Amino acid sequence: MEYKFSTGSTNYSDLASGHVFYSLPGHPAFPVRLASEIYQRCLEYRGKRNSPFTIYDPCCGAAYHLSVIAYLHWDSVCQVIGSDINERAVQLAERNLGLLTPAGMERRSREISAMVRLYDKESHKGALESLTRMQEQVNQLTAVRPIQTRVFRANATDATSLREGLRDTFIDMIITDIPSGQHSLWEQTLAPDPAWAMLEAMLSFLSPKSILVVASDTQQKISHKKYQRLEKLQIGKRQVVFLEPLL
Ligand SMILES: C[S@@+](CC[C@H](N)C(=O)[O-])C[C@H]1O[C@@H](n2cnc3c(N)ncnc32)[C@H](O)[C@@H]1O
Repeated sequence: MEYKFSTGSTNYSDLASGHVFYSLPGHPAFPVRLASEIYQRCLEYRGKRNSPFTIYDPCCGAAYHLSVIAYLHWDSVCQVIGSDINERAVQLAERNLGLLTPAGMERRSREISAMVRLYDKESHKGALESLTRMQEQVNQLTAVRPIQTRVFRANATDATSLREGLRDTFIDMIITDIPSGQHSLWEQTLAPDPAWAMLEAMLSFLSPKSILVVASDTQQKISHKKYQRLEKLQIGKRQVVFLEPLL
C-alpha cells in the first residue's frame, strides 16, 4: 500500500501504545501512521467543511487509535465516541480518551512520576518526557476548543444495545479495528457473520454523508448490500475497507 498523506518521516514515538497512552494487554497496537492515513483519506472523501467531525468506534478496545487520531488531527475533530463489549476495554478507553484533556494528562503525569520514583527506569523517564510534550499541546489545543469524548459498553452487532449510548448522535466517521481471530474474538454474538451484523447495526446511526472504515484480517469479508465500497487497502495481513452507506 502506498501512503498518500502520512508520507513524511514523522516520529510518532511519543504516541507509542503503553508509553503515555495505555495499552490493552494482549492486543497489538494499531499503527499510528496507518490510523492517521485512514483518517486523512476519510477527510478527503468528505471534502472540505467548516465544522469538525464526530468519530466513533464500536469495537474500540482501549480506544488507542481513536485517541491518536484525535490528538494528531485535533482541528478537524469535535467528538470521539468509543464502545466495546468488554468492561476492561471500556475502562482503558475512558483513560486513553481522558488523555485528550488537561485533567487526564495531569493524572497520567502523577502516575508516571510515581513509577519513576519507584523503579527509576529509563522507559518511565522517557514516558514522562513524552508526556510533558503532549501535555503542553493538549493544554493549548483544549484552550482553543476541547474535544468531547464518550465511552460506553455495548454489543457492536446489535443496534438495540448501541441505541442508548449513541442517543441522537450524528456520526460522521466510523473507524474500527474489529476482532481478528489471533488476538481478539467476536464476543456475545450468535451472528454467523459478525462483521456483516455490525455493518447492519451501524445503519441505524449513519447518514448518507457518513463514512465507515473497517480494519480486519484478510479472512473476513467486509461487505453488505446497503454499503458501497470506496476503496480497500491491504497492509501485510491486514485489510482496510472504506464504505459509504447507501441510505
Ligand atoms: C482489535 S480490538 C480493538 C483495539 C483498538 N483498535 C485499539 O486501538 O485499542 C477489538 C475489540 O473488539 C471487542 N469486541 C469483541 N466482540 C465485540 C462485540 N460483539 N461488540 C463490541 N466489541 C467487541 C473486543 O473486546 C476488542 O476490544
